[in-house]
Amino acid sequence: MIKVIVIGSGNVAQHLITAFQNAEKTESGISLIQVFARKRESLAAIIPIQKVTNEFSELLEADLYIIAVSDDAIEAVSNELLFKNRLVAHTSGSIPMTVLNDNNRKAVFYPLQSFTKGAAVDFKTIPLCLEAENSIDFHTLNKVGKIISDHATAINSQQRKALHVAAVFANNFSNHLYQIANDICVANKVPFAVLKPLILETAKKIATLDPEQAQTGPAKRNDQLTIEAHEAFINDDNQLKIYKLLTQSIQHNGKKL
Ligand SMILES: NC(=O)c1ccc[n+]([C@@H]2O[C@H](COP(=O)([O-])OP(=O)(O)OC[C@H]3O[C@@H](n4cnc5c(N)ncnc54)[C@H](OP(=O)(O)O)[C@@H]3O)[C@@H](O)[C@H]2O)c1
Repeated sequence: MIKVIVIGSGNVAQHLITAFQNAEKTESGISLIQVFARKRESLAAIIPIQKVTNEFSELLEADLYIIAVSDDAIEAVSNELLFKNRLVAHTSGSIPMTVLNDNNRKAVFYPLQSFTKGAAVDFKTIPLCLEAENSIDFHTLNKVGKIISDHATAINSQQRKALHVAAVFANNFSNHLYQIANDICVANKVPFAVLKPLILETAKKIATLDPEQAQTGPAKRNDQLTIEAHEAFINDDNQLKIYKLLTQSIQHNGKKL
């Protein structure tokens, strides 16, 4: 039985707790023996409160400790752990494994998905990027990862950093573009909902096509008259800058402008 402890009570911690509790029900060989939360009651709805501690000194002995706290607090929290030579992982996409305290064996357990408390996810579908200092620890991490996800894979710190930057482009930037699209719709009194099937279809195409193959639109076709008409229509400076930059980037196929 692999004993796991989750440290944290935020978005990722709560989804991990739920995933581990679901795995326990299937007798998968994993046991979530304890959780650390500064505010114990914040987890009352998802785990029996007697399993939650707010004292680092009360942490039990486990095979894996997963620190799922804000990026800026990972180092400080790892410094609070009073034991030595145990396996301790963080869940961040952007923080190196090396920030973890040298007292323990370091690892990363990074779920590449956008999590929000209360919004259900199927953990099995989430890619888990795993890194450890040695093969034995990686084996433990991988075993745990594969119990809750069908997509656990080895990713080193440099690759993880690249993935995190790529995820900002693919996820955060495209969502920001939805916001701009929404603003344009609102300003022109057309419902944003009309665009939703198009947004979903574009996302779906990526499952079977390269992004380059999937690209359509006036910039891709080099439809200069349409591009000029769009630029004349846009009356917001920020939107115009973004429109021009992305149009050029598409025309140059993502290469130097
Ligand atoms: N959210 C995502 O989509 C996502 C996806 C993949 C990876 N991650 C990574 O997962 C980690 C957690 O992210 P999150 O979104 O779950 O964050 P979050 O919802 O903002 O929660 C942060 C957690 O950190 C705790 N915390 C902050 N400072 C602390 C300290 N000094 N001591 C003890 N606990 C402290 C908070 O406790 P209190 O509630 O007591 O303040 C809270 O439980 C981060 O490293 C993040 O990069 C996030």
